[in-house]
Amino acid sequence: METHFFITGTSRGIGRALAERLVKNPLYHVVGIARHATFQHSRYSHVIADLTEVDKLPALAEQLFTEKPTAKRLVLINNAGTLGEIGYVGEIAESSIIASFRVNLIAPALLCSLFIRYYRNLNIPKIIINVSSGAGKTPYDGWAAYCAAKAGLDMFSRCIQIEQDIRELGFRIFSVSPGVVDTQMQQEIRQAKTEGFSRIERFRLLKENRQLSTPEEVAEKFVHLLDNEDQYPEVILDLRAL
Ligand SMILES: NC(=O)c1ccc[n+]([C@@H]2O[C@H](COP(=O)([O-])OP(=O)(O)OC[C@H]3O[C@@H](n4cnc5c(N)ncnc54)[C@H](OP(=O)(O)O)[C@@H]3O)[C@@H](O)[C@H]2O)c1
Repeated sequence: METHFFITGTSRGIGRALAERLVKNPLYHVVGIARHATFQHSRYSHVIADLTEVDKLPALAEQLFTEKPTAKRLVLINNAGTLGEIGYVGEIAESSIIASFRVNLIAPALLCSLFIRYYRNLNIPKIIINVSSGAGKTPYDGWAAYCAAKAGLDMFSRCIQIEQDIRELGFRIFSVSPGVVDTQMQQEIRQAKTEGFSRIERFRLLKENRQLSTPEEVAEKFVHLLDNEDQYPEVILDLRAL
């Protein structure tokens, strides 16, 4: 089925692996969004954008969410995320709290809203996947803004799904935890200062014991979800359980 994807955070990690995996399908077209462009393919185009600049998102949406006359399905994947400064509230910079909420919650929320606004009258399946985290369900010291933003993203997604069940405009919303994945984000966790994050040893051991998923394995799970979307009626999903 010809599908057009909009994916944030495609310059590395999970987002990049996902873009690389999706363009293997000749019917899939991907637009990636991140501050750096690192990937090239004939069915991939990249838009440079800083998602902390949330006031610019309506203009970005105008550029992204254009008419796609041949598309049989549209998919928005809000994948970009940042842990920001790891440390305790009252000890980290307030600007890092603002940046975390912008990238992890406000930007995906606005992109959901703009995606629905632009494509609401298009009579094809439309899927939104917000990349969430176990940290949105369990509190971790040193990650307060990140945990709160991901918890917010889960609830935002659940509310939208209720709205769309009422409106019947053909949107499905998921908020998906990918598990612990071997990316730069995990490197940043392992390099944190121990006084700013008491559970650091657990993450160092996960790496030592090779218990991290690879971005490629996670990308495969996302493809499975997209191919079997109707088997998963819940909004909140954990890829490890798929
Ligand atoms: N890795 C894990 O174990 C894990 C676990 C749970 C959830 N997650 C979630 O999975 C998603 C992907 O994480 P990852 O592990 O792949 O992280 P990553 O390797 O650090 O990649 C993060 C991506 O987000 C983009 N990004 C960050 N800040 C941005 C900004 N201000 N504007 C635009 N793009 C920005 C980065 O691109 P640029 O730097 O080029 O802008 C990069 O492409 C995140 O939402 C994360 O919270 C990851």
